[in-house]
Amino acid sequence: MDFQQIFKAVPDIKAGAPGRVNLLGEHTDYNDGFVLPTAIPQQTTVYIGYSPDNCHHFYSAELEEWAEVNPTESLPQGFASYIYGCIRVLEQAGYTIPPINLFVTSSVPIGSGLSSSAALEVATLRGLRSLLNLDLDDVKVAQLGQQAEIQYAGVSCGILDQMACSLADPEHMLFLDTRTLERRILPFPGGTEIVVIDSGVARSLAGSGYNQRRAECEAAARQLGVKALRDVSAPQMAESLPEPLCKRARHVISENNRVLKVLEDLSAGEFGKLMNASHASLRDDYEVSVPALDQLVDILQNTPGVFGARLTGAGFGGACVALVRAGAGKAIAEIVLNHYNNAGYKGHILVGCH
Ligand code: GLA
Repeated sequence: MDFQQIFKAVPDIKAGAPGRVNLLGEHTDYNDGFVLPTAIPQQTTVYIGYSPDNCHHFYSAELEEWAEVNPTESLPQGFASYIYGCIRVLEQAGYTIPPINLFVTSSVPIGSGLSSSAALEVATLRGLRSLLNLDLDDVKVAQLGQQAEIQYAGVSCGILDQMACSLADPEHMLFLDTRTLERRILPFPGGTEIVVIDSGVARSLAGSGYNQRRAECEAAARQLGVKALRDVSAPQMAESLPEPLCKRARHVISENNRVLKVLEDLSAGEFGKLMNASHASLRDDYEVSVPALDQLVDILQNTPGVFGARLTGAGFGGACVALVRAGAGKAIAEIVLNHYNNAGYKGHILVGCH
């Protein structure tokens, strides 16, 4: 199916955005901290034309689902909520958006922690930017995408995903200070590539403890008398807090320090150790891992050629990312997957090399 078959017209524009994988800096973005994502090769593509009536019409090729949105009626659910959310935030920003027909197709896996929703938001906003000649730069696109997610998908997310989908590329790591939005494009450690494996355990971000973790971090920052946990750099500072705030703060503070270390031009081995430490902290202090992710990370970390591995994204299921020897990604991913699936899981390879 394509736009023409669905809407019986040719689209006016086509736009796309990649998914992302976060290499370090997990659950730091809503604490004004540091993150280090890269884009993945998988993309979301939208085709847009004008609607012949007063409604928006959306079609998802992967879900084989239609949505008709009448702006005067109730809000849509599912994939349409992200697209309509983008239209609404543009309207709130003062732009006039005419009724559109939008066809979306995507190779970004859904529900694996690789930001399929942010890729859809950024692709939609890029598409509307070209269709209507809107004066929006890539940072503004990311900020509007984040607003769409918060207001219309009900997740109080930070800016990591949308900034990565809007500004990262698969050949580099994007170092981002989420408070100032200062960023640096960094090379991968020499002689490496990445592997991403889905654990086969689905996660639901809104239904998970994500919003609860965020509230705990805000409480911890209040009790420490700082604007955000980003303003604390010594992990010992967390020790004065009651549990679970102490553990949550310790993760955020140590994770920010790990991302900052990357600016010191690390070797693959040093970088890998930071990934391993990040996983331990997400598992023990932030408590967003699950047994399947721990097992997959354990197998990865014990496979020759792997420098380091951790869960990636919000956790509670989803995928793991590993930094591995350049050229060995495909073979390593297959060995690890075999081992993991023999333990009764249904994982699969998402990214075999960068
Ligand atoms: C999700 C959110 C991001 C970020 C990560 C965890 O992907 O959308 O803003 O908080 O979880 O690092």
